[in-house]
Order: sequence, then structure tokens, then C-alpha cells
Amino acid sequence: MSEQAVKTGQSVSELRCIGCCRIALPDRFRCEHCRDLLEIVFPGWDEQEPAGLNAEGLKQLWAERQSSFDPANRSGVWRFREILPEITTQEIITIKEGNTPVYELAHCAKSAGVQQLFAKHQGMNPTGSFKDTGMTVAASFARQAGYRWVACASTGNTSASMAAYAARGGLHSLVLIPEGKISWSKLSQSLDYGAITCQLKTDFDGCVRVLNEVVQKMPVYLLNSVNPYRIEGQKAVAFELLEQFGWEPPDHIIVPGGNLANSSAIGKALREMKQLGFISRLPKISVIQAEGANPLIRTIRETGGEKLVPVQAETMATAIRIGNPASWKKALRVIRESEGTVEQVTEIEIALAKAEIGAEGIGCEPASAVTLAGLKKLVKQGFVKANERVVLILTGHALKDAEFTLKFHRGDLFVGTPFESQSEVLQSQQRTPLVLEPNVDAVIHLLRTAEHGHKKD
Ligand code: F0G
Repeated sequence: MSEQAVKTGQSVSELRCIGCCRIALPDRFRCEHCRDLLEIVFPGWDEQEPAGLNAEGLKQLWAERQSSFDPANRSGVWRFREILPEITTQEIITIKEGNTPVYELAHCAKSAGVQQLFAKHQGMNPTGSFKDTGMTVAASFARQAGYRWVACASTGNTSASMAAYAARGGLHSLVLIPEGKISWSKLSQSLDYGAITCQLKTDFDGCVRVLNEVVQKMPVYLLNSVNPYRIEGQKAVAFELLEQFGWEPPDHIIVPGGNLANSSAIGKALREMKQLGFISRLPKISVIQAEGANPLIRTIRETGGEKLVPVQAETMATAIRIGNPASWKKALRVIRESEGTVEQVTEIEIALAKAEIGAEGIGCEPASAVTLAGLKKLVKQGFVKANERVVLILTGHALKDAEFTLKFHRGDLFVGTPFESQSEVLQSQQRTPLVLEPNVDAVIHLLRTAEHGHKKD
């Protein structure tokens, strides 16, 4: 890999406050004057001819890189390095993230009431979630800036991803997670990849509060999604999606909302793509939250987006069990700019949607399934039209939370919860594991019954 390949004149970036627009030092997270979040900007792009970036030329170059064996070219993030912040080649930590598939979901389309529905599956990343695309950039920056330690508070996916990238890059990592509130598979990943993993007796928002103080007192680089380099890497999903759609934007992109960084990143990418002439219009970006963890919806409905309304979050979709989202202002800007919307969905709706995505042979974790559940509502409201092209961003792999899936199919997911009485609607999707004697006739009998059932469908 040549040094030239990753350092480009165009990717000279600086950190700017989203509130007062002051420029900040490269390893900061909040503005020292107004405490707002920071974002990466590329001053060269404001010129009329954006720093020599030629959209048509880049589309071709990025496509060509897919057949290269250079590690940066194989990465579905660094392949797009001309529009990412520059990192010295030797410091890049990549596990060949990105390059994730788009699947058509024919049955889900039908049940939602649209003609064509696609899923961009970010769960197909190396550690099983979309976090890898941001982590490759932020962890590489940490190494370049000379940090030996990185840390995050997490609902499980960020920590799994951070632990993996830290291990690959020779960095030490510290994970703070809410005790008993994340899935075992995610916890097992951070242990496996060698992070120091602490379960705090609080929720995600409590973990964030503790970690914010730790990083002020210790030379530890924060890899939560307030980190602007993570947002840059997470832009790549939008570049890839557009490439996969022949640079013709879909009408709608639907994203789950937790800490609200992913929707911010996708919106930033599309805004920049439009600015640089890759596309001429923006898809509508809509954010779906769980009803029990809905601070963005409340913020918009109760204050018109003026002031964050934090909530005490509760949902079985533990990845998005977040009540005080850091990136709410960034996400709000994206929703407004793209003329998208927000919606909330119930626990039952999430479980049903997850099973429907599973039944397509694709699957995802519960937090990702809010997208399909939300789409159904947006179609009913007339916000999404039947003939519009819709893309759901599936953020995590089905195996991230196998316990949820098992409980769902065994029929005990909602036992003892306030939703128990409504859970009858799930029966059509439940496929209880069967226990049989090791007997050929019993299996054949079962097959015949199943075949008879399918004929009736
Ligand atoms: N989907 C999954 C699977 C997630 O893990 C997360 C966030 C989200 C959606 C929401 O994305 O926060 O950018 O709005 N997980 C974080 C974590 C918070 O710690 O793993 P967001």
C-alpha cells in the first residue's frame, strides 16, 4: 500500500463545532466554548470546484479498487478514502469492514405494503454490526494520535467492535457496559477480543456519565459515537448503498435510532455526496425508536426539536435502550434536511418484524427490526407510498441476540411482562423447536403434516 494511496489533498479536514462553528483541536469531542458536539469538515470542498474531486472519476476509481488486494482497497470504508479524513497508511487498522450486501425482502415488502423493499445489512460486518465501519477510522486515528488506551460505554455492539479493532491495532481497551442489560453474545465478544470489560450497576446513560469523567482524568481516547471520526467511517454505508443502486438514490432510508449517530452519519454522507455532485437529490431519512426508548420522538413532538427530552429507557431491543442520546441535534438536522420523519414502535411490533425478517432467510437483531416495524406505520400514514423504493438499514446480525430469538419462538419472550396479553398476534410467526423420539415414522409424519400445511398457504 503506498502512502500516497491514503493521504490525499482532498481529505484535509478539521473539527468544527456544530453549534458555534468554532474550530477545535483534532482529538476533542465537544466545543470548549459552547459544549456542543464537533463534526469533521473539509474546507477544500467549499470552493466551487471541490478540491479536484471529480464525482464520475471517483465512482470509477472506487469500483476498480474492489478487485485490488491492497488492504485499504479491500475495506468498504477506506475504498472511499478521498472523502474521509486522512490517516497515515501505517496507522490504519482494518478488518475488511463494510462491503455489506443489499438484499431484497419480498415478503416483508408485501406485509409492509410496498412494491419493493431492500435491506442494507450492516450486520454482515466483521464483528456483526455497523459499528465496524466507524471503528476502523476512529481506532486508526487513536493510534496515529499516539494513544495506548481506548474506551467506550456501550449497549454491546460498540464494545465488541472497539475490542476487536484495539486488538488488531495493538491498543488496550476498556469497556463499560450496563450490568445484565446487554446480550451475552456481545459481552462474550469483548471478552474474547481482550478488552477489560466492566459491568456497571447502571444503564447505558449511566455508563456514559462515568466514562466521560474517566477520559478527562486519564490519557484514554474515547470511542463512543460522540467521536467525530466514528461518524466519518459510518458514512461509508451510504456511499456503498448508492454505488449498489447505480448512484440513483432510493426514496426512503429507514434507520434505527439509539444514540442517534448512525442516522447522523448517513445524512452527513448524503449531504456531502450531493455537495460533490454524486447525486442530485436526497432520499428521505427517517428514524425509528422503540416506544420505551423514544427521546427523539418526544423531543420533536413536545418541544418542536428545541430541547432534548431525556427518558428512562426500557426496551428488549437492548442495543437501543438509550434515554439521553448524544447526537440528537445532528440527527434532527438530517431528518429536517432530508424531509424524513420519526416514528416509534412497540415491543410486540419489534418482535413481529424481527421474525418476518428472519423468515426471509436474512435475520437481524431486535434493534434493527424497528426499521420494518416503523415502515409499516409510515406506509399506513401515507408518508411512504407503495411505489417508492425503500431501504432499511439492518444494523446488527441475527446471532447478536440469539436468546431473544429463542424466547420468541418458544413463546416465552413476553411472559410476565405488560405485553403478555397482546402476544397472541405473534403466534403465526412462532416456530417452536420440536422434540421427537429417534423414530423415522415420526419424522415422516411430521413432514407430511408440514407439507399439507404449506399447500393450504
Ligand atoms: N442498532 C444496533 C444494532 C446498535 O447496536 C445501535 C447502537 C443502534 C442500532 C443505534 O445506533 O446509537 O447510532 O443511533 N448501539 C450502541 C452500542 C449504542 O453501544 O453498541 P445509534
